[in-house]
Amino acid sequence: MAGRRIALGNNKGGVGKSGAVVNLAASLAEAGRRVLVVDMDPQANASRRLGRPYRPENPTVTVSEVIRSGETGAASDAIVPCGWDGIYTLRIDVIPSRFDLENRISEAAATGAKRRLTRALEGVDDRYDVTLIDCPPSLGHLTQLALSAADWGLALVEPEYDGVEGATRFRDFMADPETLADVGNDHLRFLAAVPSKVDARLGGHTHHLSTLPAIFGPDLVWEPLPQRSVIKDAADEALPLSALGSRASEARAAYDATALRLWKEITA
Ligand SMILES: Nc1ncnc2c1ncn2[C@@H]1O[C@H](COP(=O)(O)OP(=O)(O)OP(=O)(O)O)[C@@H](O)[C@H]1O
Ligand SMILES: [Mg+2]
Repeated sequence: MAGRRIALGNNKGGVGKSGAVVNLAASLAEAGRRVLVVDMDPQANASRRLGRPYRPENPTVTVSEVIRSGETGAASDAIVPCGWDGIYTLRIDVIPSRFDLENRISEAAATGAKRRLTRALEGVDDRYDVTLIDCPPSLGHLTQLALSAADWGLALVEPEYDGVEGATRFRDFMADPETLADVGNDHLRFLAAVPSKVDARLGGHTHHLSTLPAIFGPDLVWEPLPQRSVIKDAADEALPLSALGSRASEARAAYDATALRLWKEITA
């Protein structure tokens, strides 16, 4: 697979990174794409929301064991279909996370440690149309593993002061030649700044949205993803938005449009 791994990040927490990963995976699957979601956050929110929570009484291989191994192709041992029904089961696979992933951070100084996810995914995600990597709210080792493996970085931008700052730090970090040399990736590109959890009634949101083209470049700021309670409800219930009926229509349309643009850009 050439050029279809996307790391979704922001240095700030709670801006809708995992929500975007999960709902974009759904939109892509509904459009007929095969999607692999790699959960690089020890919080494992994307795993749970995709119906793949870690159960200690029934332990499975997670991204933590995959990274610890770092063997070429090791990621295939951890791949499971998502826990949702129907086409989602067929088209969305997950490499789930668990809290133990925190323990990989202390191994960051080992030789070649930053390339472990890259090696583990080698030859593994060729059969998917898109690989979405959910980053933790940090620019530390776990995000660096993701940036080493990714072709693209996408920032979710909550249009508030700290959300814009965190997204800017993510963009600057991934564009820094020192970072690229450090993670051993010479083809990583910034794909987009996607406004996230946007409430158009808030003056502060409207103001911060207006600043984004100057910060990220007008062509790299995509249409906003709205703040809607149905998105939170679907996340809490670990269901696809489609399971929540007509009240999810507007939210689904927003993720569909973003998924379509994403697909067009990475296949252009
Ligand atoms: N567009 C949205 N509208 C309403 N609620 C949302 C939206 N996107 C995400 N949420 C909710 O906001 C909270 C934070 O979102 P989410 O977990 O996706 O953010 P995150 O950036 O991945 O957080 P973290 O940095 O902790 O990983 C969650 O409760 C989630 O369900
Ligand atoms: Mg998250």
